[in-house]
Amino acid sequence: MPRVVIVSNRVADLRKKSQTGGLAVALADAMRERGGIWFGWSGETKEEAAPAVAETIGRVAAVSLPLSRREVEEYYLGYANSVLWPLFHYRLDLVDHRPNFLDTYAAVNRRFATELVPYLEDDDLVWVQDYHLMPLAARLRELGCRNRIGFFLHIPFPPPDMLAATSNHREMVEWLLEFDLVGLQTSTDVGNLTRYLEEHMGLEEIGGAYRHGSRQVRVERFPIGIDPVGFAAMAREEPDDVAIDLMRRKLLGQRQIIGVDRLDYSKGLPERLRAYGRLLVQHPEYERVVSFLQIAPPTREDVDAYAEIRLELEALAGSINGRFAEFNWTPLRYIHRPVSREKLAPLLRASDVGFVTPLRDGMNLVAKEYVAAQDVEDPGVLVLSRFAGAAEELDAALLVNPYDVDEMSRRLHQALEMPLAERRRRHEELLEKVMRQNATAWLESFLEVLERPDGNQEAGTGDQVAAFRAK
Ligand code: ADP
Ligand code: F6P
Repeated sequence: MPRVVIVSNRVADLRKKSQTGGLAVALADAMRERGGIWFGWSGETKEEAAPAVAETIGRVAAVSLPLSRREVEEYYLGYANSVLWPLFHYRLDLVDHRPNFLDTYAAVNRRFATELVPYLEDDDLVWVQDYHLMPLAARLRELGCRNRIGFFLHIPFPPPDMLAATSNHREMVEWLLEFDLVGLQTSTDVGNLTRYLEEHMGLEEIGGAYRHGSRQVRVERFPIGIDPVGFAAMAREEPDDVAIDLMRRKLLGQRQIIGVDRLDYSKGLPERLRAYGRLLVQHPEYERVVSFLQIAPPTREDVDAYAEIRLELEALAGSINGRFAEFNWTPLRYIHRPVSREKLAPLLRASDVGFVTPLRDGMNLVAKEYVAAQDVEDPGVLVLSRFAGAAEELDAALLVNPYDVDEMSRRLHQALEMPLAERRRRHEELLEKVMRQNATAWLESFLEVLERPDGNQEAGTGDQVAAFRAK
């Protein structure tokens, strides 16, 4: 079995039992088991850039480097999260392109490539994760690297006309053509990229790959998953404080709607809170009976758009509680802090409705976690945005338009009133998909295609390869 080298913006802290963020959640367990190298940013910010250091954690060599203050501002907060993140989430209105962002993004990718090369061996499979590192294969190829290099985009890929709104769209796609395999979450994403390749670049698919110059690239769908068995086991173990809260709610006959998301504008949180407010207006019988727990830990707070969404949400939460709260009932509990996954899992299990309504999301693992956490005998109902990648598989959920507050409020009502037989039928269908398309299946299917031989093994110039070998 060839060694796998994961490259991502951040290296997950493998000493921690559980992770936050779709990418780390999906990869950490698999890497712990399989071993290999995980390369990326240590999460530290230093005044000056510093070289990578390696540390062995179990079977994984974690190789990480700090970023300089300027790199954090212009690469991570800048090009990655103020240009690519909004653009790829269909939010052209939030793209904030400033001078130097793209140059520093390119420079960090060059630095990652230079620092990574000494750790690579000829047969390693290199697997690059997410939008922060789209130019990495091109930079590695320039250094003579002939390894198989795959790329997985955890976020959506936008339609060609939207991508074309940015001046360097062709360059962006050319970066991707240096990989052997590009993996995307959904067939919509695959359609968007392949339409760009065909309509904007005149490329043609032949034998499952697009040829460009001397290289060819496969573009395929690999929907990411979770570890459903492990998550279900965690959901059954209630820490004391969660158990007490559940007992209290049971005693009072109270029911709970739950949402769990990083506080990101792509997650549709204001619309979600408004839909809950509308539910309470339209169904006064739910007062003192149904409460909404929204967990939304901070993320990327130095980007203006994130600071704005935080203020908006605080005001909305205040107004809902101000309007509906009783001395002995808080309709909305909004937690703006990380919560351990050991608590999160039983909280998802103990909630009657999982309310997952991103305006646009690559996949959304919380939707899958909600399904995995349920009691199969008495499952809750998933209300899911049709614009989450997960909706392509989880169509037995109640699908909603996350912009339509009225529709979401109606679906919440339908979920709360759904008879047990229908809840079980829908849940069985959802669980079957969550079990089948799990994190291990995702990882193995990607690596299997990446390993498959094609004409690319012959590509690359002799000089480059010699230089790479002599590193
Ligand atoms: P994204 O990758 O955009 O953050 P996902 O829904 O795909 O969105 O993945 C988020 C992951 O992070 C999930 O596994 C979720 O359980 C976890 N997570 C989100 N918020 C918290 C939190 N407050 N505490 C612990 N884990 C969290
Ligand atoms: O899944 C999207 C993603 O950007 C991942 O790449 C990342 O691990 C996660 O969200 C959390 O983002 P950040 O590292 O910016 O906190």
